[in-house]
Amino acid sequence: MILWGGRFREKPDERMIEFSSSISFDKIFAKYELEIDRVWVSMLNRIGIVKDDELKKFYKAFDRVEMEIEKGIFEYRGFEDIHSAIDERVKELLGENISGKLTTGRSRNDIVVTEFRMYLRDKVNYINGLIKGVQRSLLEKAQEEKDKIMPVFTHLRVAMPAKVSHYLLSYFWMFESARKSFMFSLEDILKLPLGSGACAGTTIDIDRDFLKMELGFKEIIPNSIVAVSSRDFLLKYLFSCMILYLHLSRFSEDLIIYSSEGFSFVEIPERFSTGSSLMPQKRNPDFLELLRGKSARAISVLSSLSTVLKGLPLSYNRDLQEDKKDTFYITEELIKILELLPNFIKELRFNEVRMRELLRKGYAQATFLAEYLATKGIPYRKAHSIVGNIVIYCERNGKSIDELSLDELKNFSDVFKEDVFPYLSIDKGVELLKNEGTSGTIPLFHQIKNAYRVLERE
Ligand code: ARG
Repeated sequence: MILWGGRFREKPDERMIEFSSSISFDKIFAKYELEIDRVWVSMLNRIGIVKDDELKKFYKAFDRVEMEIEKGIFEYRGFEDIHSAIDERVKELLGENISGKLTTGRSRNDIVVTEFRMYLRDKVNYINGLIKGVQRSLLEKAQEEKDKIMPVFTHLRVAMPAKVSHYLLSYFWMFESARKSFMFSLEDILKLPLGSGACAGTTIDIDRDFLKMELGFKEIIPNSIVAVSSRDFLLKYLFSCMILYLHLSRFSEDLIIYSSEGFSFVEIPERFSTGSSLMPQKRNPDFLELLRGKSARAISVLSSLSTVLKGLPLSYNRDLQEDKKDTFYITEELIKILELLPNFIKELRFNEVRMRELLRKGYAQATFLAEYLATKGIPYRKAHSIVGNIVIYCERNGKSIDELSLDELKNFSDVFKEDVFPYLSIDKGVELLKNEGTSGTIPLFHQIKNAYRVLERE
């Protein structure tokens, strides 16, 4: 059951048709196809091609098809794609004379890319809300954990102390950048290709403004060849997916490390942990690992679509059908992940004792101490080396920096005075971080306020 039998004398090879069929995945477009069909016949009615009584019959047939799809009784099998499946059913319901008017002036080439845009528009709007939900949960957790301090790592070695909330908010901002990228892709998605026909338009006097308004698009693509050939809107969407997946994957990786026995910084909620069939004691972070693993597909789909496009002559080529399957996969998986994450984040518990042990062991306040010397006029390179020697001293004597006395410090430099004590302490040291973008009480307060403001926008 194909839409293009007219000029052929032989039946197509069944396995070739099966190979080229897209119905197994493009049936997801059914509701958009029907929406386009309704608007299309209304437009054909306005220009006199579809009569008033035919229009009514079309609407009835579309309602019927919609009902069959909703009830799960619609027959998809045996069709090349969703366009042929719906077309054929409408033909059964209305007869060839009326139903045959449906395809006037349009092609699957402009329909498929129109409904793909409608699908992505809905997904972007939904994903936008979901990202905000994840951001909100990070923000709430950040407030809850406001007083806890953790080491920030570089090279996965203890670097400097910061509030746990500061760390959590780093993901808030990373997700915000991905969210903005999605909203940016939406501008391109909302451009209308319908009316471009197969590639060079139609001689029928169609009303594209009407199509644009009725289908909720913002503008008409100004060139019919671009309209059926370009997938820039999709590249931008996939790029946004990739950015978000990358951030989610790093978040997973952090938490896999931080929750491992060696760190025990954070406990992953039991409801989001999995066991081992062999080892009774195990509590594994499979959820996070899958999230990290799935992000690989988000990277590959962007590069595979770019490769499809790279050598593709204008205008439409069937290669473009390969733009869908993986897009659907990474989109649906992304949605599941984003729906799960708020509860996961809500139940994370940070272990202050363990984080402090590592802060101490990693001499996390060494930089504060060197900066103390710098404020007393010692060139920073020299201060750096003085504190390097203090760290060696601590290592040899099994001491932490905050256990050093003023006398001990004076052995390294006579610049040290009573006012050094805040720089020796992890907690007081963090409060010396007063610049914007750091985790001292005041800048952190500003950051949280700013983050709430961002969430309330749009
Ligand atoms: N299934 C095709 C796609 O996804 C649309 C159909 C266009 N087919 C054609 N032979 N021009 O791109």
